[in-house]
Amino acid sequence: MSRILSAVAWPYANGPRHIGHVAGFGVPSDVFSRYMRMAGHDVLMVSGTDEHGTPILVQADADGITPRELADKNNRLIVEDLTQLGLSYDLFTRTTTGNHYDVVRRMFARVRDNGYMITRTQMSAISPSTGRTLPDRYIEGTCPICGAGGARGDQCDACGNQLDPIDLINPVSRINGETPKFVESTHYFLDLPALAEALGEWLDEREKSGTWRPNVIRFSQNILEEIKPRAMTRDIDWGIPVPGWEDQPNKRLYVWFDAVVGYLSASIEWARRSGDPDAWRKWWNDPDALSYYFMGKDNIVFHSQIWPAELLGYNGGGARGGEPGDMGELNLPTEVVSSEFLTMEGKKFSTSKSVVIYVRDMLARYQADALRYFISAAGPENQDADFTWAEFVRRTNDELVAAWGNLVNRSASMISKRFGEIPTPGELEDVDRELLDAIAAGFGEVGDNIAAHRQKAALAAAMRLVGKANQYVAVTEPFRLKSEEERPRLATVLWTLAQAVADLNLVLSPFLPHSANAVDRIFGGEGRIAPLPRIEEVTDLDETDRAYPIITGDYTDVPTWGRHDVVPGTPVAKPKPIFVKLDPSVVDEELARLAGE
Ligand code: MF3
Ligand code: ZN
Repeated sequence: MSRILSAVAWPYANGPRHIGHVAGFGVPSDVFSRYMRMAGHDVLMVSGTDEHGTPILVQADADGITPRELADKNNRLIVEDLTQLGLSYDLFTRTTTGNHYDVVRRMFARVRDNGYMITRTQMSAISPSTGRTLPDRYIEGTCPICGAGGARGDQCDACGNQLDPIDLINPVSRINGETPKFVESTHYFLDLPALAEALGEWLDEREKSGTWRPNVIRFSQNILEEIKPRAMTRDIDWGIPVPGWEDQPNKRLYVWFDAVVGYLSASIEWARRSGDPDAWRKWWNDPDALSYYFMGKDNIVFHSQIWPAELLGYNGGGARGGEPGDMGELNLPTEVVSSEFLTMEGKKFSTSKSVVIYVRDMLARYQADALRYFISAAGPENQDADFTWAEFVRRTNDELVAAWGNLVNRSASMISKRFGEIPTPGELEDVDRELLDAIAAGFGEVGDNIAAHRQKAALAAAMRLVGKANQYVAVTEPFRLKSEEERPRLATVLWTLAQAVADLNLVLSPFLPHSANAVDRIFGGEGRIAPLPRIEEVTDLDETDRAYPIITGDYTDVPTWGRHDVVPGTPVAKPKPIFVKLDPSVVDEELARLAGE
């Protein structure tokens, strides 16, 4: 048994999330966490909404509301969407809690006191027309490193490098197109060069473990070569106040010394809410605990460089030495699990150009498990992937409905009609044993692939076994075994099918939790094999006049990963179809909707 932290990227609360987001961080982290719990590990899965920083501020300005109002609204929407998708967070919170502010400020102060923050004066962009600070992300220009157009002031999506706005060639404001003016401003910089050696050692060590995706570890090692101090404060009035600079309300902590610390602060909040305020330490201070960070590829640098550097600075693990603060020596990530990008009908998602399908709209019209299935089977696991409506309909109808749904349905129908309960088998024939042996071995293959972040391979293996079970029906033809003499054989075949379906249902449950419960109920279970998250309205632990919704759940009572023998005599009722078959007209309807017709 290991302790496993599932650290899931924090979605920005500047708007509702689209399916590209949940394909990157959401579904993969949930599949992994669900499997790890069934494999007997003690999983803590945390995240929350990322509510500070420029995207929120700019959106709030555009909507004519305060950033806090905007964050409150979107936090709730996102909480509802992720819950409906079945993502099994132990705690999904937010970055505007009293607890988060406190943890971030303690972390910052210790990194600084250990000598890893330096102050420097740099040129900062302001808007000449309004006199307000122009956030990095809202400046656009040509990338000075790769020459691509459309690079943002904080990062170039074409080459992945972090940038400073002043280095952009021909910078313009994305808000109003004017050319920004650069003025002097003093900031705290994380002294990354003083942490570079320790970071390199950590990465080399991680590389030896052999589990990181090669492109992620290589990218992380490469960017170490160009490492330089990075500003950790910003000229902005929405964010966490800078410890020691409380008299300068126009300077706040940079989001990357804010949201990433959320993994730690959410673990602490979870422990405080659980009644054992030190419980988080088992995931953070015990060097044997494992931590997996899930995100889209635009987040790699922040998780394989900035966050580990902040942890090393806190621990006193860099060239300047130092001592950990009262949170103790904190674990660095075991693995940064990054996905690639999802596109939509061949185009990059863009809310401004309406190339988008929001999670909420998708879930209003289709089953959560159909979306989860598509993402797991065809998502951007290790290369960019395209969501098309035609492919969504095809996967849903041919794979979920025709293969798995049909297997469940015909098995349960025959059992209910002929016996009303799971029958007692007679002696097994080779064909029965062969199917059950193949499926028993599937637990190993599927589980190992999920553990190694090869979820597509895992799901493909599970679906191959579903195909094998359907073939078994075709070969044994239980629907023809009608006579009294054939009844013992019928009992054996249908018992075999009941066991096969129960096994496959467990194997598929990390991917398809909602339908796993429905299938379980059909076969006489209580429908709780894949526990679902719930929303709870809570009071802020420190600022007791504030309340907010969290996602939480009780996921400890899950079946172990492996065969659980079905019990003859368990009643099986006539089933209703589990999955909704989609009419092909869905494709045209959705494409018309996308085109704004
Ligand atoms: N909000 C960021 C994004 O969507 C991700 C933050 S991940 C965190 O790109 F770790 F910093 F929280
Ligand atoms: Zn570039």
